[in-house]
Amino acid sequence: MKAAVLHEIGGVPRYEDFPDPVPGEGEVLIDVKAVAVENVDKAIAAGTHYTSAGFTGRLPAIPAFDGVGALPDGTLVGFGNPRLPYGALAQRTVVPAGSYAPVPEDVDPAVVTVLASAITGMAIRTAAGFVPGETVLVQGATGVAGRLAVQVARLLGAGRIVATGRDDTQLREVRELGADAVINTAVPDDVLARAFADARGDGYDVVLDYLWGRPTEVLLGTLVPESFGFGRPTRIVQVGESAAPALNLPADALRTSGVEIYGAAKGLDAATMGEAYGQVVAWTRAGELVFGVERVPLSGIETAWQRTDLKGRRLVVLP
Ligand SMILES: NC(=O)c1ccc[n+]([C@@H]2O[C@H](COP(=O)([O-])OP(=O)(O)OC[C@H]3O[C@@H](n4cnc5c(N)ncnc54)[C@H](OP(=O)(O)O)[C@@H]3O)[C@@H](O)[C@H]2O)c1
Repeated sequence: MKAAVLHEIGGVPRYEDFPDPVPGEGEVLIDVKAVAVENVDKAIAAGTHYTSAGFTGRLPAIPAFDGVGALPDGTLVGFGNPRLPYGALAQRTVVPAGSYAPVPEDVDPAVVTVLASAITGMAIRTAAGFVPGETVLVQGATGVAGRLAVQVARLLGAGRIVATGRDDTQLREVRELGADAVINTAVPDDVLARAFADARGDGYDVVLDYLWGRPTEVLLGTLVPESFGFGRPTRIVQVGESAAPALNLPADALRTSGVEIYGAAKGLDAATMGEAYGQVVAWTRAGELVFGVERVPLSGIETAWQRTDLKGRRLVVLP
């Protein structure tokens, strides 16, 4: 079969022949239809993700750990967890029985495969207990997941949505998706701090953070009250690390602000995940959740893997 094959850590996958997977006991063959290539796939291949060791220890191997495909009986499913060295970026892959779930047959597989990113937007509710009317700040709103999160916040009934990015043209697009105010983070710290303070209205209730690093350090500084009193705590949901994988967290930023920090996985189980997934599918069918998809054939993987011009569109590979 044809596959995208990674030969060295940090390299670029090449389109080439690879032996067909043969399912063992308790495994199922998947005929791959669409795969969204995300930052996490590149981080695993680069050896910089916490799950990298298993993958990079099996080279040559096929990147990407989930996608949309068909079971041998033709049922369309979202699948995950392929058996290494097999990955999703191939004509066929092999996964443990049960490591898949049916997906709607009436929605384009290339669209379905992007919806996992929309579920991160639902973390304002599943992780942070968002209720309608609250103010939501989306850090990193010009990316694919951030643009979806702005729309999810609006659809869930946010009272005010503030969105950050580092490119004014893209920030204008984010405003059209539903942000009430936008902030460009590519400014000196004191200017950024003032912008966070000016845009917060009555205060940020929930922050959905795809950036971490400096923008969030500056934000935390603005949450520290200037006098003793009872503040309204901000709940920060950590989802991504596009700006940096770590940040400096001063003691007073926690002690006096009452800030609460959660991981995006908090509150997720099969039931809440199923509910979140059903909701984003319903919004997508109704045309209420929009996003850009850049479709490329598997044969174009070498060029596509290195693209940096996607500006909020998800790269989807079609084997
Ligand atoms: N936990 C999950 O399930 C999950 C799911 C999806 C994504 N994520 C994570 O969330 C993050 C965003 O994912 P994505 O798919 O939306 O990525 P994306 O489409 O590539 O967008 C990245 C975003 O981060 C911004 N950015 C990149 N480098 C930056 C820097 N040094 N300083 C400030 N901003 C920077 C980009 O701004 P420009 O537009 O100006 O480049 C853009 O807004 C990633 O860390 C990803 O791994 C997590």
